[in-house]
Amino acid sequence: MAVLPILQFEDKIAETVAENPVVVIIGETGSGKSTQLSQILHRRGYTRSGAIAVTQPRRVAAVTVARRVAFELGSRLGEEVGYAIRFEDRTSDKTCIKYLTDGCLLRESLSNPELNQYSVIILDEAHERSLNTDILLGLMKRLINRRSSNLKVLITSATLDGVKVSKFFSGCPVLNIPGTLFPVEKLYSTERPTNYVECCMKTALDVHVHEPPGDVLIFMTGQDDIDKMVFKLEERIQNLEEGSCMDAVVFPLHGSLPPELQIRVFSPAPPNCRRFIVATNIAETSLTVDGVVYVIDSGFVKQRQYNPSTGMYSLDIVQISRVQADQRAGRAGRTRPGKCYRLYPRTVYDEEFLDATIPEIQRSSLAGSVLYLKSISLSDIDILKFDFLDPPSRESLEDALRQLYLIDAIDENGEITEIGKAMAELPLEPSLSRTLIEANELGCLSQALTVTSMLSAEVAIRPTHSKIKEKKRKQSFSKLPDGSGWGDHIQLLQVYESWDRADYDPNWCTDNDLQVRSMMFSKDVRKQLSQIVQKIGKGPLDVESAMRLKKSDKDYKKLRRALCRGYGNQLAERMLLHNGYHTLGYRSQLVQVHPSSVLEADEDGQLPDYVVYHELINTSRPFMRNLCAVEISWVQPILKKLEKMNIDKLSGGSGASENNETIENETISSPKQAVDASAKVMAL
Ligand code: CDP
Repeated sequence: MAVLPILQFEDKIAETVAENPVVVIIGETGSGKSTQLSQILHRRGYTRSGAIAVTQPRRVAAVTVARRVAFELGSRLGEEVGYAIRFEDRTSDKTCIKYLTDGCLLRESLSNPELNQYSVIILDEAHERSLNTDILLGLMKRLINRRSSNLKVLITSATLDGVKVSKFFSGCPVLNIPGTLFPVEKLYSTERPTNYVECCMKTALDVHVHEPPGDVLIFMTGQDDIDKMVFKLEERIQNLEEGSCMDAVVFPLHGSLPPELQIRVFSPAPPNCRRFIVATNIAETSLTVDGVVYVIDSGFVKQRQYNPSTGMYSLDIVQISRVQADQRAGRAGRTRPGKCYRLYPRTVYDEEFLDATIPEIQRSSLAGSVLYLKSISLSDIDILKFDFLDPPSRESLEDALRQLYLIDAIDENGEITEIGKAMAELPLEPSLSRTLIEANELGCLSQALTVTSMLSAEVAIRPTHSKIKEKKRKQSFSKLPDGSGWGDHIQLLQVYESWDRADYDPNWCTDNDLQVRSMMFSKDVRKQLSQIVQKIGKGPLDVESAMRLKKSDKDYKKLRRALCRGYGNQLAERMLLHNGYHTLGYRSQLVQVHPSSVLEADEDGQLPDYVVYHELINTSRPFMRNLCAVEISWVQPILKKLEKMNIDKLSGGSGASENNETIENETISSPKQAVDASAKVMAL
C-alpha cells in the first residue's frame, strides 16, 4: 500500500509542533490526519508527559479510527489506544492515545478545566464546524495562554479556511499537506431529477453495466433513503442477466449503523466484485472508504436547523455547499482517475450552492453550550462576547439564556445557580438534567432515570404494520385504569418496566417490535446515569428504589411533575375549541400533537389542557413530539417566572435587547390565558 501523504512530512510536522503551541494542518481527506498524526506525536515522545486527545465530531469516527490505530500499533483497543463517546468509555490507565467526541472533551474540561492529563490536543475534522468543536476552538485559545509550555494544540481539516483559523490563533503556522488526488471527471445532469432515489439508482446501474471495475460511492440524504436504495439496488442487480457484469455487493453507511456493520466498508471488495457504498455525508470527510472510483452525488444533505425565534427544529433536506460537492467528487480520485456523476446542472453548482456549509453554531439551540460556558470556572466570560470563530446570532444566545432561566439553571441576573451547576455535570440536554434533579427532590428519580435513558438511547417505539398488534401494544403500555394515556414519556417508562419484568429478555424486545440494540443501550445508559447521579448527588438519592409502579402513584404524578419542571420552557396549552395547542412562553405559536404520540383524549374527545413536549419539529406542520400531560398548578409557577424575566438582566446587562418590548407583552399574555383555562377546569 502506498505511504500515506502525511507520513512523508513527519519531520516537518514534528519540527513545527515542537516550535509552536498551536499548528493548523490542512490535508486532503485520506491523507492520514486522523490515523497518523497521533502516532507521529506518540513516536516523538509527546505521550511521556501526558496523553494525546484526538477529538471527532462524530461518534462513529471516534470508534472506527481508534480501532484502526490500535490495530496499526498492534495493541488491544482500550489499552494503549482507546476511545470515549457519550455513555461509552473504552480507555484504561494505559491509554495514551484517546479518540473522543468533541462533546466528551468539553465534559472532561468541567472536572479538569486545564485538561492537564493531555500533552497534546488534536481537534480533528475542524472543517465540519460542529457546535462543540467551535466551542473547543474558543477554549483552546484560552487554555494555550495558560499552558503554553506544556500543551500542544493541533487543528486539522480537509477544507478549512486555514488563514482564518490561523488569525484566530494569533497567526499560528498552517501546514498544507499536498494531496495526491488523481483527476476526477465531473459529469453534470442537464436538470434536477424529480425522483432523486430513482435517478441515483439508474446511474449506479449504468456505471455497473458500462464502466470498468472500481467501487461506487453514492451520497444520499438519510437512513430511510439509504435503506430504500440498498434494497432496490440489490434487487435490480440480481435481476441483471447472469454473466453480463461482475458481481456486486451493496453496503449502507450512516451514523446510526451498528458498529459491526460500519466496519464492513473498510474491508476491500472480494476479487471480481464491485462494492456500492450508499452513504450520508459521513463519507465526505469523516470516514475514508478506499477503492472508490465512481461517485454519485445527489447534491443534497439532511440538515437539522434550529430557529431561535420559534424554538423549533426542522430536519430539512438542503442543497450541499460547493465545498461539500468538491469533497464528494474528491472521493473518486484517491487511487486512480475517477468520475463523479453530479445529479444537478453545472449552473446549480455555480449559482445556487453556498460557498461553504453554515456552521452548526449558527443553526442549533445553544442552551446546553451556554450552560456549559457558564459552569466552567471562567468567571470573566461574558457569554455574549465569548471568542467564537464565527459568533452565533445574539437572538440564539438570548434564546438560550431564557431557556436556562425558565428551568432554574441561571438566576434573573444570568448567574449560574446550584441547580445549573448540578445540571451541567450530567451528560444530558438541559431539560432532561433538570428533570432528574427535580425527580430526586420529589422521590421519583428511578423512574425519571428510566425515561431519560430511553430518550437518550433514542429508543423508537416503531409503528407496527399490523394494526391489531399496535392496538394491543398501546393498551398494554399506555392505557391506564382511568382510560387516559399520560403520554409518550410514560409509555417509554412502561415499556422499560415491562422489559424489566421480562428479565431483560431480548426476545421480548423482538416480540414487541423494539430494537434489541437500543433497548440494551438504554439499560446501559441508565446504569451509567445512575452512577453519575450518585457521584454528584448532594442530598439523599432514590436511584435504587424499586422501579415498578407504586400503588400510590398510579397516575405518575411525581414523574409528570418533574418532567413539567424540566421542560419548563417547552409547555403548551390546548386551544379552547379543538385539540390544537399553542406553546406557552416568550414565544407563542400554534402546534399539533405529532401523530406518533400515544397521548390520549378523554371520553369527551379532549386532549389534556396542558402538556410538555420533548421537541418541536417542523415537518408538514409544526408538531410537538414526545409529550406528557401536566397540571395547571405545576405550570403556574413557571408562568410567574416568565412574567419576571428580563433579558437585559439575564444577559448580564450587556446591551439592550431590541425586541424586549414584544417579549414582555407575550409573557404577560400567557399567564392570563392559563388562569382563564384553570377557571374553566374548576367550573366544570
Ligand atoms: O484523516 P484523513 O482523512 O486525512 O485520513 P485517515 O482517516 O487517517 O485515513 C488514512 C487511511 O486509513 C485511509 O486509507 C483509510 O481508508 C484508512 N482507514 C481505515 O482503514 N480504517 C479506519 N477506520 C480509518 C482509516
